[in-house]
Amino acid sequence: MGYLNLRSSFHILLSIQLLLSLFNPLVVADLASEKQALLDFISAVSHVNKLNWDKNTSSCSWHGVKCSADQSHVFELRVPAAGLIGTIPPNTLGKLDSLQVLSLRSNRLTGSLPSDVASLPSLHSIYLQHNEFSGPLPSSFSPNLSVIDLSYNSFTGEVPASLQKLTQLTALNLQDNSFSGSIPDLKLPSLKLLNLSNNELEGPIPRSLQTFPNDSFSGNPGLCGLPLPECSVPSPAPSPESSLSPQSPPLPHHEKKLGTGVIIAIAVGGFALVMLVVVVLVVCFSKRKGKDESDVESKGKGTVTRSEKPKQEFSSGVQIAEKNKLVFLEGCTYSFDLEDLLRASAEVLGKGSYGTAYKAILEDGTVVVVKRLKDVVAGKREFEQQMELIGRLGKHANLVPLRAYYYSKDEKLIVYDYIDTGSVSAMLHGIRGVTEKTPLDWNSRVKIILGTAYGISHIHAEGGAKLTHGNVKSTNVLVDQDHNASVSDYGLSTLMSVPVNASRVVVGYRAPETVENRKITQKSDVYSFGVLLMEMLTGKAPLQTQGKDDVVDLPRWVHSVVREEWTAEVFDVELMKQQNIEEELVQMLQIAMACTARSPDRRPTMEEVIRMMEGLRQSASESRASSDEKPKDSNNPPSV
Ligand SMILES: *[C@@H]1O[C@H](CO)[C@@H](O)[C@H](O)[C@H]1NC(C)=O
Ligand SMILES: *[C@@H]1O[C@H](CO)[C@@H](O)[C@H](O)[C@H]1NC(C)=O
Ligand SMILES: *[C@@H]1O[C@H](CO)[C@@H](O)[C@H](O)[C@H]1NC(C)=O
Ligand SMILES: *[C@@H]1O[C@H](CO)[C@@H](O)[C@H](O)[C@H]1NC(C)=O
Repeated sequence: MGYLNLRSSFHILLSIQLLLSLFNPLVVADLASEKQALLDFISAVSHVNKLNWDKNTSSCSWHGVKCSADQSHVFELRVPAAGLIGTIPPNTLGKLDSLQVLSLRSNRLTGSLPSDVASLPSLHSIYLQHNEFSGPLPSSFSPNLSVIDLSYNSFTGEVPASLQKLTQLTALNLQDNSFSGSIPDLKLPSLKLLNLSNNELEGPIPRSLQTFPNDSFSGNPGLCGLPLPECSVPSPAPSPESSLSPQSPPLPHHEKKLGTGVIIAIAVGGFALVMLVVVVLVVCFSKRKGKDESDVESKGKGTVTRSEKPKQEFSSGVQIAEKNKLVFLEGCTYSFDLEDLLRASAEVLGKGSYGTAYKAILEDGTVVVVKRLKDVVAGKREFEQQMELIGRLGKHANLVPLRAYYYSKDEKLIVYDYIDTGSVSAMLHGIRGVTEKTPLDWNSRVKIILGTAYGISHIHAEGGAKLTHGNVKSTNVLVDQDHNASVSDYGLSTLMSVPVNASRVVVGYRAPETVENRKITQKSDVYSFGVLLMEMLTGKAPLQTQGKDDVVDLPRWVHSVVREEWTAEVFDVELMKQQNIEEELVQMLQIAMACTARSPDRRPTMEEVIRMMEGLRQSASESRASSDEKPKDSNNPPSV
């Protein structure tokens, strides 16, 4: 009896709601103010990927925005990995009163987390991991929060004791920040996932949290007590369990290294598997085509904003096949998909230190370079973020633009424009059995080397101190008919494991400190650039065999020859045919020597290198102009 009544009253309620939503000006006003709040937010951050947040359309239809059923309020905002840069101003997102889910993970948001956002009354899940947020956390959080992921940021200060009030909290991820102080005694009955690893927390772990595994706390040298080793200095109130457990010395944490090792082992494991996976993927994709409605951007033109299910926010690495798409970067006009790419006819262009490059000719005639990366150790998010960054950088005239990428557990592909010209290496040294070397006069070489320097310098300037080219060598500098240089393969080194036995070609460009501590920096790029400059000046490969097993690297050879004062012999014989350039050659060689100084601190920055080279060019052309006025009798050998 009650059933029918309930049903009909439900219907009435529903239609009243519908009427309300259509005609109630209040509802409209709510949504309008929320729309304005979203617009205020997006106008305060720069975003690389185009969002369709157009004033003229309903905010409920915007990328990443989900509204309640009656369209009266914004319910969810999910804009992951959209290249958002900037801070969240107060009074923007904090005005979305009905917001339940906020996901802005994997962007480059900075500044603090505004307190009006953290305390949004309905907020249920907040995903801000992998950004650059800093400062302390707000002191109060919405009591309805169930998931808080603030990991991989730069938050500081204490873990707020007010988290204690979040009785619904099931997951708290604060790893990889700079939280300090002691951990508050959080008695949270629903908490299932806790990660406080890699912060600067100290003191004993509170009783309430001792049931979590030790990798919830690792990477905080100051923390002690169960589940970590016992506190060495007796803590003020030692728990009975910890005083009974045998004394064990605090162990250094090896987890990270172990993890990397395992990943490498897995990566090395399956070449045959990779082929199988490709076949399986092709089948999967042809079946799924058209079915994938969760993904609005089917062929992702110019944006990587994707909708996702809440559960996957926590998954790390393992992805289901339908989420794995070829992701096109902004400004890319290609319109093929993974299937097309895998069907394309391919020709091996070369095997580099990061993997094999193919020239792929698609059915519609489009030609691209596909690089199949091996030994990628980065997780999906880190990979995506780096691709976004590389995509943005690639708009410089001296960099080969990255167009698209594909990431799955077993296969990582990146797609570049195809440039139908040779590399500096092929021009200087030829390719055995394929091409002879190409004669290059000094002006052409200067144009190439300056272009290369502009490209690398752009990476250093735009990418922040952390971004490097990471793989400067003559095979990675492509040159067109007019000797315009385009640098490729940049920004990938952080994603890769360091090859155990790198090829000799790579070794020749490696700065001494990177061999020891494996840390690639902007200064190690400068070193590699110096080697490349020497290669241009001498026409010699970076590693040379003298006699039988005596291998000498180019910088050491140049330094030794110059010490013995026969500098002129250093230069490429082809350059020595040209007149009036010795002075410039010697000065250029000095720049190359400064770049290859053993101590990174003594190397100039790329910007300084450019200034020196441009200055040199200037004065050289001036002095050449004035010497041209004199009668030409200069057939004298170069004197140094
Ligand atoms: C928005 O709509 C108004 C009126 O319909 C029109 O004049 C204007 O050009 C539109 N703006 C955009 C960006 O589409
Ligand atoms: C908190 O969540 C419950 C259900 O999970 C809901 O009924 C309640 O309205 C929420 N509180 C606020 C302030 O939104
Ligand atoms: C963490 O716990 C596991 C087993 O539970 C143990 O094998 C490992 O050594 C512990 N690590 C540290 C750093 O205590
Ligand atoms: C916590 O995060 C670290 C990485 O920062 C990871 O190694 C560890 O396994 C995580 N612990 C848990 C319990 O998820």
